[in-house]
Amino acid sequence: MSKLYHTPVLLQETLDHLNLRAGMHVVDCTLGLGGHSLEILKKIGPKGRLTAFEQDEGNLKVAKSELKTFKDQVTYVHDNFEYFSDYVKKPVDAILFDLGFSSPHVDDPERGFSFQKDGPLDMRYDKRQKLTAEKVVNTYNEKDLADIIYQYGEERRSRVIAKKIIHVRKKKPITSTLQLVRVIASTMARKQKIHPATRTFQALRIYVNRELEVLEKALDKAINLLKPKGRIVVISYHSLEDRIVKNKFRYYAKDCICPKELPVCQCNFQKKLYILTKRPIIPLGIEVSKNPRARSAKMRVAERI
Ligand SMILES: C[S@@+](CC[C@H](N)C(=O)[O-])C[C@H]1O[C@@H](n2cnc3c(N)ncnc32)[C@H](O)[C@@H]1O
Repeated sequence: MSKLYHTPVLLQETLDHLNLRAGMHVVDCTLGLGGHSLEILKKIGPKGRLTAFEQDEGNLKVAKSELKTFKDQVTYVHDNFEYFSDYVKKPVDAILFDLGFSSPHVDDPERGFSFQKDGPLDMRYDKRQKLTAEKVVNTYNEKDLADIIYQYGEERRSRVIAKKIIHVRKKKPITSTLQLVRVIASTMARKQKIHPATRTFQALRIYVNRELEVLEKALDKAINLLKPKGRIVVISYHSLEDRIVKNKFRYYAKDCICPKELPVCQCNFQKKLYILTKRPIIPLGIEVSKNPRARSAKMRVAERI
């Protein structure tokens, strides 16, 4: 197989906003192929430490090889970042989340993420997990399928698509990506602005990997394990993720979480964050022209009080 490659998104902006200095302990929650981590390690120097989460075994292997010069400084965690606090026990100086999939996931048809190339309907980041997209598409009832496609894909035609899936799978199971693409496309009469399967594939990927649920959990844990003045940087790639990050930062930036009707504060809530990005940072045109996968990226940054 040719060398796997993933261009790190918003790289300089990430390094600047993590406010890196020599000797820091940084957590990269989404190591991928190690692009961001490599530059982080250079900045934190020989006394710095990195804890890196990656649930995809293949990516983890590549990243370990890319970062081999720094091997004594890195703790690799082959697990979901939702278990952040099981591995990170003491407060750290900076935390990065660069969410979603990496280039090898969509470039390799065997992973089942791409609607352009034929492959098994898989979509798991972590192959140890039992649930696959194939199982969802072939065993879930019509209502549940429609809800998933609507909720996680924001697909207005979710009910029609779910109905068609049920109709087709009665004759023959839907086991490949292009088979599913054909089913979805057959429900759309007019030419769409985006590929007809974009939203349904996004929905299945998010559902199979519980992406929104694990992000919610992990952000709570990460924010609570940041040292004072420590920075958290989150890069997201669709509005559902970005909304979670925005709301979580806003929640921890509040002075009080009492219901509005209470005249006097009784919550004793401790404000934990300063939000450093009122609006998300997005890539410059020049980055998007070199790396089209950066086009939907949004970066939010906050500092622990
Ligand atoms: C956008 S890529 C990160 C790319 C990386 N920053 C780089 O420069 O190579 C996201 C990576 O996070 C991993 N990932 C996604 N969700 C995860 C989770 N909940 N826990 C652990 N790893 C996750 C994916 O497998 C993927 O390799």
